Amino acid sequence: MKKAPVNEAGFISKMLIIWYDKHKRDLPWRKSTDPYIIWVSEIILQQTRVDQGKDYFERFTGRFPDISSLANASEDDVLKYWQGLGYYSRARNMHTAAKMIVEKYDGIFPADYKTILSLRGIGEYTAAAIASFVWNQPCPVVDGNVFRVLARLFAIDTPVDTTAGKKIFFDLAGSILDPQYAGVHNQAIMEFGALQCVPRNPECLICPLMNICIAYASGEVQNYPVKRHKTKTRNRYFHYFYIVYNGYTWLHRREGKDIWNGLYEFPLIETESPMDFSQLQQTAAFQELFRQAGRLTISTSNLPIKHVLSHQVLYARFYRVELNGQLDSLDNYLRVLQQDIDQYAIPRLIHIYLENLDRKLPD
Ligand code: ADE
Repeated sequence: MKKAPVNEAGFISKMLIIWYDKHKRDLPWRKSTDPYIIWVSEIILQQTRVDQGKDYFERFTGRFPDISSLANASEDDVLKYWQGLGYYSRARNMHTAAKMIVEKYDGIFPADYKTILSLRGIGEYTAAAIASFVWNQPCPVVDGNVFRVLARLFAIDTPVDTTAGKKIFFDLAGSILDPQYAGVHNQAIMEFGALQCVPRNPECLICPLMNICIAYASGEVQNYPVKRHKTKTRNRYFHYFYIVYNGYTWLHRREGKDIWNGLYEFPLIETESPMDFSQLQQTAAFQELFRQAGRLTISTSNLPIKHVLSHQVLYARFYRVELNGQLDSLDNYLRVLQQDIDQYAIPRLIHIYLENLDRKLPD
């Protein structure tokens, strides 16, 4: 028989805040109460882990220290500073929202939860984080860490990735929130999930909530949170051509709804199945691209690079191709000096390739 955890007089919130005061990490955004800074940090942290996020945060806020600098920047510049974080629509949405704040709210970040939520790219989680961290508004935050903490404390069987589950967790998060300390409570429960109530092998024996945790009492900590859907992933096969001629290479700006909208990449052939070079040479796309070329000098790494995105796994092969003359098929590509590639926002996958290449093959 499940017992309800003890939460009299806000016990859980008190314990979380005491724990947080003692264990919280010293993170750059925690020194700020500027909503813009909190916003940027939260969006970056949706993309990456805290260790890596810190560097991106410093770089991004160094270049765009406030709303107007972000609003006035070019999209290419914003993407450049987001490069490597992935999910570039998040950066584009921030850019759009910054412009919206300048136009509609005189450049002042709105303090009202509903208005914050209406900004492009800001969902319930981010709006609650900003409203509570900055203005101590009693909005519960529910992220992956919070789901886990609550699912274990209260032994919630309802899957977190269902509408019913979302409502249960949201209500529960609200019910343990002490409105007087909303901001610090929210930060505390997230930090507690990140450091103490971790996904695998948490150290329950040193947990301050061990005595009231229902999952712990029944030895089922590992079984929570419950998920209904395993996310399906799609495999894709990319063949990139790093074409060089007279110190130049060719890039293309990706457009549309697919991954990496707005980023620059080398000429690409995508195939439905894995292909080695001899198979690739038979494809119409290859023949079209290199129709005019005489003898090509092509070098490649043998193994494809496996690059994991949230719902896709890319298997990418890179071919470095030295031309003997111009190709008309490259007319629709951007001709760029090889040494200038780093002025363009490129996907991390291509960055990884170029970094390895630099080490192996100085040009
Ligand atoms: N994860 C999401 N938001 C965070 C924050 N503000 N600090 C640390 N980790 C986080």
